[in-house]
Amino acid sequence: MEFRELIKARRSVRNYASAVMHDDLKAILISAQQAPSWKNQQTARCYAVETPEKLEALRASALPSFNQNSSARAALIVTTYVKDVVGFDAGKPVNEVGNGWGAYDLGLHDAYIVLAARDLGYDTLIMGIRDADVLRKELNIPENEAVMSVIAVGKRAAEAPARPRKALDEVAKFI
Ligand SMILES: Cc1cc2nc3c(=O)[nH]c(=O)nc-3n(C[C@H](O)[C@H](O)[C@H](O)COP(=O)(O)O)c2cc1C
Repeated sequence: MEFRELIKARRSVRNYASAVMHDDLKAILISAQQAPSWKNQQTARCYAVETPEKLEALRASALPSFNQNSSARAALIVTTYVKDVVGFDAGKPVNEVGNGWGAYDLGLHDAYIVLAARDLGYDTLIMGIRDADVLRKELNIPENEAVMSVIAVGKRAAEAPARPRKALDEVAKFI
């Protein structure tokens, strides 16, 4: 898909017909690896959940009901980043942002996920309202990783309306 068209076509979908196919999920995660990262440290990590029984259990235990409903029938990618690496030098934060840089890199990585998914004909929903402790336990996520988002990926069941954006002059200054 032409890039500007892709950007416009991507939106959060809360009604899925089916989950992403395994090979396409792999292709999406490979694309996301091309995202830039601090000193190419690549601290983003993904836990791709595809097994129907595991999906059902994880949705029920780690998501509030509205996100369970919105992500029904989709696969889930739980994204984390390895802490205390990006933005750190010899164990000390290089500036005031600290582990915010790890979150920054993961956000870039996850932006690639949602765009790569759309390019392959899938839709996504990033969910920040989730139980990190349950995800950590259920997926054996080590303590040195910060649990961030759960991303639903699947084929949409219905069109989703485009959400409005602020006027550019409200969010950007040209100096
Ligand atoms: C970090 C982050 C967390 C989000 N968490 C949720 C969530 O828990 N549940 C939900 O329905 N949408 C969630 N969203 C989706 C936003 O509501 C959505 O991106 C926004 O309304 C703009 O709509 P659009 O993605 O269709 O352009 C989240 C988005 C981001 C980037």
